[in-house]
Amino acid sequence: MTTLNETRPLPATGEVNTGPIALDIHEDGELDRLWAAVVPETRARGNDIHLPISLSFARRLCDAYPEADRTLVLVATLLHDTGWAHVDKDKIISDGFRGDWRKADIRYEHEREGCAVARRVLPSLGFAEEFIEAVCLIIDGHDTRQVAYSLEDALMRDADRLWRFDHAGIALASGWFDQDPARYTDRLETEIIPELITQAAVDMATADLARSRKLLRTEVLR
Ligand SMILES: [Fe+2]
Ligand SMILES: [Fe+2]
Repeated sequence: MTTLNETRPLPATGEVNTGPIALDIHEDGELDRLWAAVVPETRARGNDIHLPISLSFARRLCDAYPEADRTLVLVATLLHDTGWAHVDKDKIISDGFRGDWRKADIRYEHEREGCAVARRVLPSLGFAEEFIEAVCLIIDGHDTRQVAYSLEDALMRDADRLWRFDHAGIALASGWFDQDPARYTDRLETEIIPELITQAAVDMATADLARSRKLLRTEVLR
């Protein structure tokens, strides 16, 4: 979707909520059955923190872009990193979060394994084959591909980044990259905000980053 990748950041067409994510209502309704199907996968690499927070941001992004297929965005976001549970756990940090980590074999592997999880759990929950392949198209390459194929793909990618700006995301992910919170939040500003595709995500990230920096005293603790 060339226009999507050229028109960045993409202006919102709906309501943009930049308040603390913890204040949202987190009832997942139909998706509770999907959560139940992937409990083992949530135990890998902090997925039990990363996936629920990312899903809440995905819901907000769908409010900001109501033209997107909401179910597709939410299911893809919930499942996108479940593949981490099916790779060599000893290599997740050493290979997946150090050096040229975006191109590490284990990154491609967790994307492929995530698609396998989607194809395993979604059919018995009543999702059609066409929908499942659309989910896999988003999951496959979510970390290693440069471009978003669709609006739904873009919203999943932005949700995957937005959780990092919340203080829970900073607490968890700064350790993965072996960085203190001050340096890590500096990186969020200089490296991650420019990667965001939608204006709604930029607004949410900017508001969250300011709150998290104040909360964590990053001005002094550096
Ligand atoms: Fe990932
Ligand atoms: Fe992720």
